[in-house]
Amino acid sequence: MMSKKSWIEKGYVDELIPEAIDIVAEIRRMRTEKNAVILAHYYTDAAVQDIADFVGDSLALAQKAAETDADIIVMCGVHFMGETNKILCPNKKVLVLDLNAGCSLADSCNADDLQRFIASHPDHKVVSYVNTTAAVKALSDVVVTSSNARKVIESFDKDEKIIFGPDKNLGEYICSVTGRTMLLWNGGCHVHQRFSLSSILELKRSHPTAKILAHPECPAPIQKVADVVASTAGLLRYVTENNDRIFIVATESGILHKMREECPHKTFIPAPPEFTEGVGCSCNECAFMKLNTLPKLYNTLKYEWPTIEISSDMTEKAVKPIMRMLELSKE
Ligand code: 13P
Ligand code: SF4
Repeated sequence: MMSKKSWIEKGYVDELIPEAIDIVAEIRRMRTEKNAVILAHYYTDAAVQDIADFVGDSLALAQKAAETDADIIVMCGVHFMGETNKILCPNKKVLVLDLNAGCSLADSCNADDLQRFIASHPDHKVVSYVNTTAAVKALSDVVVTSSNARKVIESFDKDEKIIFGPDKNLGEYICSVTGRTMLLWNGGCHVHQRFSLSSILELKRSHPTAKILAHPECPAPIQKVADVVASTAGLLRYVTENNDRIFIVATESGILHKMREECPHKTFIPAPPEFTEGVGCSCNECAFMKLNTLPKLYNTLKYEWPTIEISSDMTEKAVKPIMRMLELSKE
């Protein structure tokens, strides 16, 4: 029996699916019948990636949403990704699988705090990482992802004053590769902050030919020992285009599914996180991304809920910096 009250309390459709139902076949049928497109981030579970129409990094997912002619976009990822899609496609129905799929990085930058910070530095341009709420994007001049942050920053005059947030590690990385100084917000991602440098070095000692791959959300000491620092799509490109055979991967372990699929004869070792007392999960998984499951995808498509809703006023403000990013990424 459908109970909207329970869905709202839980943040997802908690309807039990009868065992006799072939979930995968039904998802495919509903997708065609409803003219829906299923987008998934590389960090989601393998089963979700496998059924998606398109799997990509944050930039590619936004580009895909912007160009789709589907009536419904189902975003298997985290909340800010659904918001980005809705801002780009305000007249389409944008669905996510679970409203609890947040992002610790987006949570590290509250829009009111950012507004006060901007007010105390009025001569600065504001560059925000895509891992932010719609309200933060609405305060920004341009949005970036880890794929295009360098290019976007280099599009500004050398002496332009810039506030960059919320990921401090990405900000420091961009400063180091561009030689610029920016005012950095002190935010971070709980998954990337926790990789253990000593365990990575230990792995490197046992696999001396392995290349260390790191996402720029990792702290500087990990970036320093890495052979490649790049976005999820950049790391994937590196493993497919190079002859190296063993990789230690310092980003969310969901990416290993695509890496292994594209390079079945290569070896991918997930970098281990530091053990932290009191943190339930001592793995390198983003618990928010793992809230995306096939049963939730089935229920979301069936009941067309949860939807992402953003006011027209907020959409109007937030779309400009996102469009600016998409324009700059084309050039
Ligand atoms: P990408 O932009 O590389 O997809 O990264 C998104 C993200 O959430 C990293 O933690
Ligand atoms: Fe956010 Fe980190 Fe999860 Fe990426 S891995 S979605 S930055 S919490």
